[in-house]
Amino acid sequence: MIVVAIDGPAGSGKSTVADALATALGVPHVDSGAYYRAATLAVLRAEVDPTDVDAVTAVVGRVAIDRVDGRTLLDGEDVEDDIRGATVTANVSAVAAHPAVRDLLLVAQRSGIARDGGVVDGRDAATRIVPDADLKVWLDADVEERGRRRALQAGEPERLDHHIADLHRRDAADATQMVRADDAVVVNTTGLSLDHVVATVADLARTAAGGS
Ligand code: DC
Repeated sequence: MIVVAIDGPAGSGKSTVADALATALGVPHVDSGAYYRAATLAVLRAEVDPTDVDAVTAVVGRVAIDRVDGRTLLDGEDVEDDIRGATVTANVSAVAAHPAVRDLLLVAQRSGIARDGGVVDGRDAATRIVPDADLKVWLDADVEERGRRRALQAGEPERLDHHIADLHRRDAADATQMVRADDAVVVNTTGLSLDHVVATVADLARTAAGGS
């Protein structure tokens, strides 16, 4: 049984690293942000104001969000592609800021961890979702590098300034949720290849599992 928590800001490489690490360790990858994204899609579909805590909590309280084989299901419908779009991304921080929403999604997020463990990525994985994780990693990278990655992912290398400005906005909007655990190992991925980061974190995980 090995549980790894990987937190960090948008564009730090969390989700890609968590996915590769989960494969390397043979355990599920729990993408905790996907639950907030699906909740946000439900809120937008219900035409509710994302800042209206009572209305948002009511919507999130009556939907079922699941993750199956890397896909996100909202009341059984595969919404994996919809939740990665610009509209959900622009509204998700507001929905995730409500403590009542965070409480509602915690149980579902934890249920993604298998009997043999899991790799959980997010903003508060180490401090809240799996506080007893064998290894806690805080991934970071310079905002310019995170912006370059986002611009490339979006196929818009010429819009680098837009992506950097967007990350500054998201860092500010997510600041309350983004908590670095005191016992997290900080890995700055600026200038490092994905393979290098995955190998580094996998070594840390094996050492942590061996030592527990
Ligand atoms: O990692 P991501 O971009 O898919 O996350 C989407 C949003 O959800 C992000 O704005 C912050 C929020 N989030 C959170 O508050 N806590 C988590 N554990 C994961 C994500």
